[in-house]
Amino acid sequence: MIEDCKFIEFPQKGDERGHLVIIEGNQDIPFDIKRVFYIYGSDREVIRGRHANYNSEFVLINVSGTSKVKVDDGTSQKIFNLDRPHVGIYLPKLVWKDMYDFSEDSVLLCLSSEHYDAGEYIRDYDRYLTVMKEEKHVKTP
Ligand code: TYD
Repeated sequence: MIEDCKFIEFPQKGDERGHLVIIEGNQDIPFDIKRVFYIYGSDREVIRGRHANYNSEFVLINVSGTSKVKVDDGTSQKIFNLDRPHVGIYLPKLVWKDMYDFSEDSVLLCLSSEHYDAGEYIRDYDRYLTVMKEEKHVKTP
């Protein structure tokens, strides 16, 4: 699971006018994009996310500034630095994620495979661990 969280580098078309980064659903990222939201105005003290999703997959890109994403699958953890506008991180469903250490100019663009559904969020970490234990049990009986 944690090994499925990975950086994706997007194609860029730069010329003397500036940069243009291209992200096509189902081509540059592994899902159809159903939802886009972005987070800005958070600072170094803030920790966002702190949840997992039953169904949604995400790609997160710092289109401006920098932040960090800590991913956790209940067994191991990994920290990704988001600091380039043409590089995103892919997060599969059921991964616990914390976004933090936002620079003042951070704009964190989030692409999602699903429409918003508050019911598919797991916001309690102990419950998440229980869900992941059950998942493991189902996969390796
Ligand atoms: P929240 O999930 O706490 O954001 P983050 O994970 O980035 O810390 O969402 C903040 C609020 O916005 C919460 O009331 C739910 C709402 N929200 C939507 O209505 N639609 C969305 O697509 C998202 C991501 C959040």
